[in-house]
Amino acid sequence: MSEFRTYAIILAAGRGERMQADQNKMLLKIAGRSLLDQCLERFSKNEAIDHIFTVMAAEDMPSPEETEQNIALSADYRGLEGFIAGGKTRQDSVFNALQAVEKHAAGFKGRVLVLIHDGARCFIPSAVVGRVLSALKAERCAVVATLPVTDTIRQVGQFALKELEMPRDELLQMQTPQAADLDILLHAFKLAREERIQATDDIALLLRIGYPVRTVSGDSRNLKLTSPDDLELAHLLYKAGYFNV
Ligand code: CTP
Ligand code: MG
Repeated sequence: MSEFRTYAIILAAGRGERMQADQNKMLLKIAGRSLLDQCLERFSKNEAIDHIFTVMAAEDMPSPEETEQNIALSADYRGLEGFIAGGKTRQDSVFNALQAVEKHAAGFKGRVLVLIHDGARCFIPSAVVGRVLSALKAERCAVVATLPVTDTIRQVGQFALKELEMPRDELLQMQTPQAADLDILLHAFKLAREERIQATDDIALLLRIGYPVRTVSGDSRNLKLTSPDDLELAHLLYKAGYFNV
């Protein structure tokens, strides 16, 4: 029996408000395939991932009655175990998926490794997944893909910029996957719920309970598509073959 079992949670239950489209941004298409499709294809082709759960808002979920045109997903994906209903916040969505993973992995005696990934980072190179998993397998810690900050970051007050400049070499941008063992993620998320803590990413909940977190290099191809400009850029980069790695 394998010592590890790997799960990917793909988050697609947001509303994509900043994208200003008339539907969830995860259903928008690049090269004829939805962002969700693009993301699932990458994870399902990655042999290092055993199982995948996708989190979606109930109204976006593909149903058997849907016509070809409305179906969000154009293919069956290896390892895709199912769709989980999303929650109000990203954190709620992750929690719902963690519970589904817990059920699915019940009885497995080895380490259950969970990679939580923003579906909006749909062009993730497989090397990023590889780096996250290697670090996670090497020791019991959490792992996050990060990028250095290249711009100067300055705090802003209500009326003006503050003099305070954040030292750039002490800052990192958090990407996803953010990953850890299932048991510690469940513990951290349950505690956050009890204590009414809402965080914008998963690592925040692990840091607050003092769990060790390691960083690995993310990738600029792993950008999050947030605004219409990001989408336009992604169309151009896709055409130029930038994401073919
Ligand atoms: N997400 C989710 N459930 C939520 C909120 C967000 O699964 N309740 C997912 C999104 O689908 C996205 C990822 O979390 O893939 C990162 O969130 P973000 O980029 O902020 O997406 P949205 O919340 O959809 O966008 P916006 O904040 O502009 O509404
Ligand atoms: Mg959001």
